[in-house]
Amino acid sequence: MNKIVDLRSDTVTMPTEEMKNVSFEAILGDDVYSDDPTVNELEQYAAELLGKEDAVFVPSGTFGNQLAILTHTRPGNEVIVASNSHIIIDEVGAAAGIAGVQLRTFDLIDGNRLPFEQIDRLYREDDIHFPETALICLENAVSSGTVVPLEDMAKLKKWADSKGIPVHLDGARLFNAAAAMGVDARQIADQVDTLNVCLSKGLCAPIGSIVVGSKEFVDRARKNRKMLGGGMRQVGVIAAPALYALKKMVGRLQDDHKLAQYLADELSKIDGVTVNKDEVQINMVFFSVDLKNITEEQFVAGFAEQNIKINGSEDGKFRFVTHNDVDKEGVDRSLEVFKQLVSR
Ligand SMILES: Cc1ncc(COP(=O)(O)O)c(C=O)c1O
Repeated sequence: MNKIVDLRSDTVTMPTEEMKNVSFEAILGDDVYSDDPTVNELEQYAAELLGKEDAVFVPSGTFGNQLAILTHTRPGNEVIVASNSHIIIDEVGAAAGIAGVQLRTFDLIDGNRLPFEQIDRLYREDDIHFPETALICLENAVSSGTVVPLEDMAKLKKWADSKGIPVHLDGARLFNAAAAMGVDARQIADQVDTLNVCLSKGLCAPIGSIVVGSKEFVDRARKNRKMLGGGMRQVGVIAAPALYALKKMVGRLQDDHKLAQYLADELSKIDGVTVNKDEVQINMVFFSVDLKNITEEQFVAGFAEQNIKINGSEDGKFRFVTHNDVDKEGVDRSLEVFKQLVSR
């Protein structure tokens, strides 16, 4: 049987052999006592890399975003966030359930530009009837595979500062965004107060995200993490591969981006496929396909029969994601299967 090609997400990436080795050899301690030197090194490294005072290691990206929202707000506050963001769509309503906040949404323009007038209108002036606007959340890279330009983030930060509201970034794919923009990740981090960065997506760590910000914010977040049951003990076993990911895996994200471009080019040559190549900015290719003689279920199953994993469509679009465990050969094989299935 052919090797598995998994195009569903970059969350499926396996830790590399080196990651398994550093995990095995990590020096451990009880992290709730701040005694795990590997976790301490990871948090310090991440904070320095992103130009912030401190960082706290958390189990997942969802945990990181929700910890940030909880720490920045009080129940009844309002948070401004994009309508298509992971926080709105894919975090199980946690902002309402955990922090007890109300979310107020804006729509990105053309999938990646910030609508300043709309955001300004969403801000709540002081009024006895209104909730207090306590936070604005951005996402970069955006889950739809695009990148918000640095100048938009800088303009937003200036506006938020003038209102006295902190800005949190869901930087699940921060380093993809930085690579796509050709900037240092720190330049993106400079435009926000706090960030959540996932280490277990394109960077291939098995588990974990990191939340960075001021020392005062991270101290409070650390206590909230404990409250949520996220105080972990000898967690250096996963901090070690996460640190390896930050040090060694960032540089190769460009390869995933190039492979996504190649995949998009080749898909666009197939009859009945529509890909907006301008929107292929990181490691994700969104496309629609006119399936004439087969159903979507048969299309997905046809790939599965060839050991190729894909997700079904959402809002009429499929998404293929490139990552460290997919090479050009795997992409070419997927394209062959694709052509066979659509020509049935
Ligand atoms: C943009 C974005 N934010 C947050 C997350 C949440 O990460 P996790 O799956 O680790 O909770 C994801 C996961 O795919 C994501 O794509």
